[in-house]
Amino acid sequence: MLKPIKLANKNFLSSLDSSREELLHILEIAKNFKNKDLNIEPKDKVLGLIFDKSSTRTRVSFQVAMSRLGGTTVDLNPTTSQIGRGEPIRDTARVLSRYCDVLAIRTFKQSDLEEYAKWSSKPVINALTDLEHPCQAMADFMTIKEEFADFKNVVLTFIGDGNNVANSLILCGALLGVEVRIACPKGYEPNPLVIKKAYEIHNNKNFLKISNEPDTAVLGANVLYTDVWSSMGEENQKEKKEKDFNRFTIDSNLVKKADKNAIILHCLPAYRNKEITEEVLESKKSRIFEQAENRMHVQQALLSCLLA
Ligand code: CP
Ligand code: NVA
Repeated sequence: MLKPIKLANKNFLSSLDSSREELLHILEIAKNFKNKDLNIEPKDKVLGLIFDKSSTRTRVSFQVAMSRLGGTTVDLNPTTSQIGRGEPIRDTARVLSRYCDVLAIRTFKQSDLEEYAKWSSKPVINALTDLEHPCQAMADFMTIKEEFADFKNVVLTFIGDGNNVANSLILCGALLGVEVRIACPKGYEPNPLVIKKAYEIHNNKNFLKISNEPDTAVLGANVLYTDVWSSMGEENQKEKKEKDFNRFTIDSNLVKKADKNAIILHCLPAYRNKEITEEVLESKKSRIFEQAENRMHVQQALLSCLLA
């Protein structure tokens, strides 16, 4: 019977905190949870959620995943805890990790997340930072695996802002051997260190292509993926970004240029007729809601491994 293995790393702060084998193991465990072939009950374990930004999917999927494992969740609202009044992360982390068995944190700076991990005696999970969204990427690749069975020969084209979601797709894609193409407006390219790291993992420049041309980036692609143009915390840049991204909508013309069996992904929330048209979002090719469901299965798998 398949059992969650203990991960080599205590934390999950980045896609690179797991090895390729561990990532494949988590995807396998997630499939078993989804098919109800696995029943693990870390009874009495408590997940602490610290969210400095809004969330629907990540918050609720973590809560339900933990409850499915037989554990409970404490959802800390920074505005009603001392976090919002400026209590240092090093104090918060030392206290909360005495109460909780694992912490999932959504915040702005990756360095703040790392500060939590440094002072927490329990595992810390990245529930989204400005730099990465690794739990999202795991659910994305689970959805891709359900569709194509094998990652070999899959081309994933991301059209949009090269920030957190794109960075994690690049890193996760590199670990899993998936060709990732990013098409973004000039000035919105993914993090250079992420690109460098992906090239080191692949050792093959053809597996990662960054361009400013959506029309060529989608040619023959099996997966088209997009994300909001203005991320959380960027509300004051909305007007400028809408101008900068106006050639970067996934619409039916762009979809026609991809492989005929291509699927459409979006991490959600979606802004219709901005980064994606209503027609494409609601089309038969869309796997967006399967993808959202898979957040819960991969996080249940990740929690079971971190608590093993
Ligand atoms: N995709 C995602 O992380 O959604 P939430 O912001 O609702 O958690
Ligand atoms: N890039 C988006 C992802 C939302 C899930 C943001 O950071 O707001």
